Amino acid sequence: MDDVVLEMKDIIKEFSGTRVLDNVSFRLRRGTVHALMGENGAGKSTLMKILNGIYSKTAGSILINGKEADIRSSKAAKRLGIAMIHQELSDFPDLSVSANMFMANEYLSFGLIDERQMNKHCREMFGRLGVDLDPKSKIRDLSVAETQMVEIAKAISVNADIIIMDEPTSAITEAEVKKLFSVIRDLRGEGRAIIYISHKIDEIFQISDEITVLRDGQFAGTNLAANFTHEKLVSMMVGRPLDHQFYKTNHEIGAVLLEVKNLKREGKFRDVSFQVRRGEILGVAGLMGAGRTEVVETIFGLAKKSGGEVFMEGHRVNIRSPKDAIRHGLAFVSEDRKLVGLNLKGAIRDNITLANLRNYCLGRVVIQGRRECEVVDSYIGKLRIKTENRNKLVENLSGGNQQKVILARWMSCRPKVLILDEPTRGIDVGAKAEIHRLMDDFAAEGNCIIMVSSELPEILGMSDRIVVMHEGGITAVIGREHATQENIMAAASGF
Ligand SMILES: Nc1ncnc2c1ncn2[C@@H]1O[C@H](COP(=O)(O)OP(=O)(O)OP(=O)(O)O)[C@@H](O)[C@H]1O
Ligand SMILES: [Mg+2]
Repeated sequence: MDDVVLEMKDIIKEFSGTRVLDNVSFRLRRGTVHALMGENGAGKSTLMKILNGIYSKTAGSILINGKEADIRSSKAAKRLGIAMIHQELSDFPDLSVSANMFMANEYLSFGLIDERQMNKHCREMFGRLGVDLDPKSKIRDLSVAETQMVEIAKAISVNADIIIMDEPTSAITEAEVKKLFSVIRDLRGEGRAIIYISHKIDEIFQISDEITVLRDGQFAGTNLAANFTHEKLVSMMVGRPLDHQFYKTNHEIGAVLLEVKNLKREGKFRDVSFQVRRGEILGVAGLMGAGRTEVVETIFGLAKKSGGEVFMEGHRVNIRSPKDAIRHGLAFVSEDRKLVGLNLKGAIRDNITLANLRNYCLGRVVIQGRRECEVVDSYIGKLRIKTENRNKLVENLSGGNQQKVILARWMSCRPKVLILDEPTRGIDVGAKAEIHRLMDDFAAEGNCIIMVSSELPEILGMSDRIVVMHEGGITAVIGREHATQENIMAAASGF
């Protein structure tokens, strides 16, 4: 068929003997958006990294426009008209936005990099995406969402025929997603082909023409998006039908565990007051930029407050660093998994029971030797972390499985207050349900959870009470029984 721009045939990939892609075939047509779906660790990113020349395949063939292609580097991929937005965000934090965007093809005039030209082109790209960013600012100073928009602009700017987007929307706002989708539709109209990876099933149905599903490294099926239903897609991914009810049990809500009074950070948020009780899950809803992450970071001592007080079990506590916070029984899973996150070069086992954390946790649970292995293995099992064993390096795990390791680490620390910022971002449907179950168990034991989430169904399904923020202030506190999508959205928009 002449509209096929890419064909991957019987691709096999092994990492030191372990097969992670087993005879996978994939066919992409010009002028279409093709979604690639599957659970965490199914092999999506690996297949795309092979196409982008980052990994070499163990066997199989790749045809571009019907011609066999040997793609041995990203440069070679680029020459063949392939661009990729990576799931892991940019690795060059000290570069400026524009330098990062044009890294591989800087503008040269008389042998010098033409910065003015670069900045100009950068602004044009941002204009198209509706991004308000200074090309001269440093990557390190951007939020996760902004970095993601830069990555998107970068991939679009190179005029590729095949654009791979590996979870491009995990951190951006709904308005930004809309703009991205309109750009994707333009690109499709120009005859380009887009491979779109996401765990957000609603998005998949909105944007894709075709869907291919991988399961455990194998091809599970391809069909037109119109021929799938939500249920059909999920069961093809996980190999069984999945109950998509949220897991929430009725348990006793006890005394106040954490209280925040008039917390304030200049320029970020003000007058933030709330209580969380034993057994309770407090949801924090709001639009991106409302100050939710800033509030929880401040409680955890990652940023300095400019006013207000925090109480633990009725006692005023002075938390000036994460170390103080941990000592008082708090734990924090951040939205940016690399920031407060992982030792990528370390094994899963060491990341879950990380030595310096162990010191703080001491007195609550002493994790040692065989017991340590048991704890680690139980989390690997409970969270379904896809790995051969507990000694695998975290950098070799899939994105979603890295997120699970962070969760396991903080839960194994047995905190009283667990703060979760976007806990299921990048997590597949099946594992999401497992995480929700663990959250419920954790609260049922008399602890509490503060959960920031941009996913309204998750907020509605898991929270006992919901704090809604808008532009740095709390606009509503809504009990579970009164919460609806509508009243949360209204409060989040400041009505
Ligand atoms: N460099 C590597 N060395 C060893 N194993 C690897 C390496 N890269 C990936 N893997 C393994 O290959 C499997 C597939 O990983 P991949 O990143 O492709 O999953 P994914 O489908 O993108 O998942 P996610 O939705 O979590 O991003 C995983 O089990 C992962 O641990
Ligand atoms: Mg991936």
